[in-house]
Amino acid sequence: MLKNIEKFVMEKLIKDSTGHDWAHIDRVRMLAIQIGKVEGADLKICELAALVHDLIDDKLFSDEETALKEVIQLLKKEGIEKKEMDHIVEIITTMSFSSGPEKGMSTLEGEVVQDADRLDALGAIGIARTFMYSGAKGQAMYDPAIPARTQQMTKEEYRQGKSTSINHFYEKLFKLKDLMNTEEGIRLAEERHTFIEQFVEQFLAEWEGKDVQ
Ligand code: NI
Repeated sequence: MLKNIEKFVMEKLIKDSTGHDWAHIDRVRMLAIQIGKVEGADLKICELAALVHDLIDDKLFSDEETALKEVIQLLKKEGIEKKEMDHIVEIITTMSFSSGPEKGMSTLEGEVVQDADRLDALGAIGIARTFMYSGAKGQAMYDPAIPARTQQMTKEEYRQGKSTSINHFYEKLFKLKDLMNTEEGIRLAEERHTFIEQFVEQFLAEWEGKDVQ
């Protein structure tokens, strides 16, 4: 069953160059299982939700409704029971940062998968993915004339407004540490958060030539 789902996800994301490729999915799956174990979550739900979590992302797929239908069809075909299906659908439709970071997840498994996805947005990999995403979207890595948008934004504003890689740290990534749900997630986020803070500090120092003065 897992092999078929893996294959489906791999095929869907094969052309991705925005940092949401199969390797991201595989890391989120690994993290979700690791956190889920510590937190005592249902690991089957964690793994399945992690595997399909980006298949309905509006960043990647323009028609979210059709995308969700396809995911449901796939899981049905692989024999996932209705109760598990509802749980997985609930997780993947509510976990995105753009759908409102203040909204919490309603189950432990949802909290685990959301934490796993957020951890992959932090640390060295998080930095690399941020620049990949900006590159794919034709954004600059940094532009002092474009201020970071730190106020509340609607989903459309968040997606469509002008931004840069560095602004993304202020608009989303620096906030993630305090949005982690589980104790294990919080623990794992600490080090990765510190790392990205140091990175931006160094980036800005180099940009302004302060490090060579
Ligand atoms: Ni993701």
